[in-house]
Amino acid sequence: MKPARCTSVSLYGLDSYFPKPFAMAPHVPPVILNTTPQRLLTLVPQIMVIPLTCVMVGCGPAKIEYRPNELYAVSLHREQGDADHTESEESSTRAAALAERWFGTADSPVWPSELLAGTPGADEVVRMDEVERSAGPVGRGNDKIERGLYRKHCVPCHGVTGDGRGLAASMLSPYPRDFRRGTFKFKSTPTGVKPTRADLVRTLHDGIPGTSMPSFAALELSKEFKNDIESLVEYVRFLSIRGEVERRLIAKHARGESQLNPDDESAIEVVRLVVANWASAETKVLPIPNPPEFTPEQFKESSKRGEEWFRSELTACAKCHGTSGAGDGNSQDFDDWTKDWTLLAGIDPKKKSDWKEMKPFGALKPVIDKPRNLAWGAFHGGGNRQDLFRRLVLGIEGTPMPPIARAINGNPGLTDDEIWDLVHYVQSLSSVPSSSLASAKSTLDDTIRSKPEGAAE
Ligand code: HEC
Ligand code: HEC
Repeated sequence: MKPARCTSVSLYGLDSYFPKPFAMAPHVPPVILNTTPQRLLTLVPQIMVIPLTCVMVGCGPAKIEYRPNELYAVSLHREQGDADHTESEESSTRAAALAERWFGTADSPVWPSELLAGTPGADEVVRMDEVERSAGPVGRGNDKIERGLYRKHCVPCHGVTGDGRGLAASMLSPYPRDFRRGTFKFKSTPTGVKPTRADLVRTLHDGIPGTSMPSFAALELSKEFKNDIESLVEYVRFLSIRGEVERRLIAKHARGESQLNPDDESAIEVVRLVVANWASAETKVLPIPNPPEFTPEQFKESSKRGEEWFRSELTACAKCHGTSGAGDGNSQDFDDWTKDWTLLAGIDPKKKSDWKEMKPFGALKPVIDKPRNLAWGAFHGGGNRQDLFRRLVLGIEGTPMPPIARAINGNPGLTDDEIWDLVHYVQSLSSVPSSSLASAKSTLDDTIRSKPEGAAE
């Protein structure tokens, strides 16, 4: 197995930045392009990354292409006892070849419509006109409409392939999302169900406060850029589907279930399955009840009751978040993206250096997914009461944060009133109203109502 080539790994997508180096500052909203010279000065360190990186790794023209999922192939083969990686390359290259046949390349994505003829809702799962606009090189077509949005705004963190291994990835915590696992954290659907379009639009619009995932709301300021967020969402869906199909194909090959020939019915079934999962997500949104209208006094009492639930055996919140919610409980767990390759490959993610064996295949250092310090108030999935209710009953998929047991359909657990008590307690822990951290648009109304004067701070 060859180690990954330096230029194509580290400089993925950078060539698209040379005409507009200021866009290198990915966490700076796009509005920075219209900024003042003084503010531009603050970007100098980021602009310097380009020449420095060139000196460190050499600056040939980087080839922009989807990268095979070597890490998953190597992990799966190690699980089967193949420690010297002789067979994993075949699994990853065969799966990548089939994925290219069905989904095209980073410059020319395609959609496997002919395989999906009998799959209900498959035509609506991605809008290929927007996928084509967001993929490919940065620039404008004859119609003057901007293209290559994903390379312009997302590649430094999420990588060309959507593998979460962009140039900046190893410096960020949490790491940027690897879309290929098909798992998303902040969504309105239950565990195991894909996010809706609206969930992804919201993530791009609001960003994920408290992480380096920026808000792209500024794209909406100009009329010309109106549908850029929606367009990027189509491409995220496409990359996730392509990547998950590739993963599942690798597993089929590694487990000896398919040789991954293009006409192999069981390989084609993989495409249908993944697309069907996305198609059905829109109908599976969990309805969230309206929050109770409380006086400040009632709010205080409710939040007191919530504190008891928080510390109870039943919810186990305090076990992870600590008795006062400061994130100092005893949970030392990792997220599913990390457990995926470490546990599969027989690597203990807690051991300091064992993971390094997997670094040449794209592994990033395992980092514990710490329970949040709730006093920070930067709620990643939104800070209004309904957002928090949704978060508690759905959990955060792919992380140790579990869904709460809810007393519905005869199941034991907390009633909705008791869950509102917990929500109020969680809100009472942060002194910074989340509306000043998260997007004003989606949190303001309710935060104002839920933080009446006199409410516990
Ligand atoms: C500066 C780095 C950075 C940039 C630029 C960036 N992201 Fe992210 N993104 C992140 C990080 C970090 C996370 C993971 C946050 C977490 O796990 O809580 C993330 C998560 C996501 C998620 C997953 C949300 C979920 O519910 O799991 C999506 C979707 C996403 N980003 C899309 C995009 C798109 C599209 C772009 C470009 C328009 C983009 N990101 C640009 C850093 C970035
Ligand atoms: C097994 C450990 C564990 C338990 C039990 C747990 N949490 Fe968490 N919680 C986490 C982790 C880890 C995160 C951060 C996940 C991430 O964003 O990657 C988190 C995040 C959160 C967040 C932030 C949500 C957001 O949108 O940013 C809230 C609020 C929260 N937990 C409340 C609770 C409450 C209330 C309970 C009890 C009903 C609870 N948690 C139980 C581990 C846990």
